[in-house]
Amino acid sequence: MRVLLFTGKGGVGKTTIAAATAVHAARSGVKTLVASADAAHSLADCLDSPLGPEPVELEPGLSAVHVDARSRGERSWRAVQEYLIGVLDTLGIDPIAAEELTVLPGAEEVLALLEVRDLVLSGDHDLVVVDCAPSAETLRLLALPEALSRYLELSLPVERRVRRAMAAGARALRGDGVVPRPRDHVVEAAERLHAELAGVREVLAGPATSVRLVLTPEALVIAEARRTLTALALYGYGVDGVVANRLVPADGADGWRSGWARSQAARLAEAEPSFAPAPMLRAGYAPGEPIGPDALAELAETLYGPAGSDVAGDLLALPDHAARLRVERDGEEFVLVVPMPAAERGLMSAARVGDDLCLQVAGHRRSLSLPSALRRCVVTSARLRDGELRVRFRPDPALWRVP
Ligand SMILES: Nc1ncnc2c1ncn2[C@@H]1O[C@H](COP(=O)(O)OP(=O)(O)OP(=O)(O)O)[C@@H](O)[C@H]1O
Ligand SMILES: [Mg+2]
Repeated sequence: MRVLLFTGKGGVGKTTIAAATAVHAARSGVKTLVASADAAHSLADCLDSPLGPEPVELEPGLSAVHVDARSRGERSWRAVQEYLIGVLDTLGIDPIAAEELTVLPGAEEVLALLEVRDLVLSGDHDLVVVDCAPSAETLRLLALPEALSRYLELSLPVERRVRRAMAAGARALRGDGVVPRPRDHVVEAAERLHAELAGVREVLAGPATSVRLVLTPEALVIAEARRTLTALALYGYGVDGVVANRLVPADGADGWRSGWARSQAARLAEAEPSFAPAPMLRAGYAPGEPIGPDALAELAETLYGPAGSDVAGDLLALPDHAARLRVERDGEEFVLVVPMPAAERGLMSAARVGDDLCLQVAGHRRSLSLPSALRRCVVTSARLRDGELRVRFRPDPALWRVP
């Protein structure tokens, strides 16, 4: 089982490359499902077949689906949200403001990922290819399972405490003005949502999942792809390939075409090292819009070579996640290693806030909840070298003493 997520700047060819990869994998003998998690859903146009929320088989070994964001997950979230609105209402907050306050940006989109998780866990496919939304939205989406889980973790125990306090208080404070207690179904819904989000993250950050970044050889697109690469590493997702798309073929060219081919090649040669160790694959500019499985298979051949067992093996090979977030021991000390390929020193900051390590890279922020061993340490240094941020922790004797 292997999961490949395709993302990149708007319009670079994410849907086309995801669909081409899926067709080529299926024709190489891999049981493949291609799923669109982008609300724009152009996968059906690209494959030239109507698609719905249930997977449909397009040809032997190839199924496709448009993931439906209105899943049962939304109902869980809605139950929690309604309760919070009720609490705010009792406290005299305007219902419209209450509604605004309880909206978590992107909460509904993240629920589409619950469906992807179920499709992956169903075990019906050897390869699941996901056509994601443009990088900015995808990053927000990929950060959310963790962020939402933390939000729920923080709020749930509070609700339980409030509930206990209310049980005592309600006896004395009968009548109006009593804050409604979360009913059992609300607590259950919150717990269910929490477990589901943990499941989404488990699949997306799991050992069989990797992200492929699609780009075109243009300065602005490459710059965004480099930022996305670092931000993905920050959230713990591994990029195991970059696809350079719409490359003008150099052969038999007139001056205009060979000029473009040369300048594209120069841009890519310059950019390639900053994505290392992720390899850069190249897809040619098709002679027409690549629509339908046959045209997509032809495009995929420029990318992966002729269909066959080599292609199948490469696509199914597990990604090397050694370049992931990890903690190393160095004598008495610990080193938290955060891979940050392409990070520039000036764009990054790292700070210890309570039990969290707050990292900020190119406008994206992540709070890493520190393992308990690291919480009892002081940060002695943070260095960015060879695409890795190494944060050194020294045990603080005062914090290790048993009270
Ligand atoms: N290698 C290629 N050769 C020729 N045309 C291409 C190639 N790749 C993509 N296209 C065309 O470019 C357009 C945009 O591609 P596509 O819809 O796959 O991009 P996208 O990144 O998914 O866009 P969005 O950000 O809107 O989801 C489409 O018309 C597609 O057919
Ligand atoms: Mg698309």
